[in-house]
Amino acid sequence: MIAVAVDGPAGAGKSTLAREVAKQLGMLYVDTGALYRAIGLYVLRCGVDPKDRTAVSPLLDNISVTMTHEQGNQFVWLCGEDVSGLIRTQEVSMAASQVSAHPEVRAFLFDLQRDLALSTPAVMDGRDIGTVVLPEAAVKIFLTASAEERARRRVEQLEKAGQPADFDRVLAEVKQRDEQDTNRPVAPLKQAEDAVLVDTTGETPEESLSRMIGIIREKIGSYLA
Ligand code: DC
Repeated sequence: MIAVAVDGPAGAGKSTLAREVAKQLGMLYVDTGALYRAIGLYVLRCGVDPKDRTAVSPLLDNISVTMTHEQGNQFVWLCGEDVSGLIRTQEVSMAASQVSAHPEVRAFLFDLQRDLALSTPAVMDGRDIGTVVLPEAAVKIFLTASAEERARRRVEQLEKAGQPADFDRVLAEVKQRDEQDTNRPVAPLKQAEDAVLVDTTGETPEESLSRMIGIIREKIGSYLA
């Protein structure tokens, strides 16, 4: 398996950086958060509280989630519907974080993630890729940045997507998601012992990118094109 695991809190720049790393190194980029988001969306549509484990678990029997990749772009399908755009709202972010705390949800998505990484060289981003999903990944990077910087970036991202957002509210949500993702009993967000810490606070994306490429080339350069 030639895999790069990129974990870290929301808004650390994982998706932008991991996507670019994959492009430069000719690997597949896999955003695993999108899978949890698809389940969050399904649960919201059913009118079920995403925090309610006993109500969420039986819904999994009705859900099919798949991913496809075309020219570096990832598409997520929920029961045959392309939900790639619909899962990018604040409401779905929060629901994804809440459903991701349920062991049944994590187990449901486990094989899909592993099978992808086993089938092709991949850069996979998430929360537990280096610790749980791909503990044998050749390279593990833990990407982080201060909560304020992450909130600022999220506001920018939402504005670009035509969804103006209030900084204080986004900061509160960033902190709430950190709290939820870090303190859940199953597969909590934490740095794997053998992961390299990359703190992107105050860095430009280009600086963080070149640090990441350097780390990866040092570890698995001889396997890469
Ligand atoms: O990366 P993201 O913001 O799209 O992820 C949405 C939520 O999904 C996040 O708050 C926690 C959860 N998640 C997870 O628990 N494990 C992963 N590997 C990826 C995401």
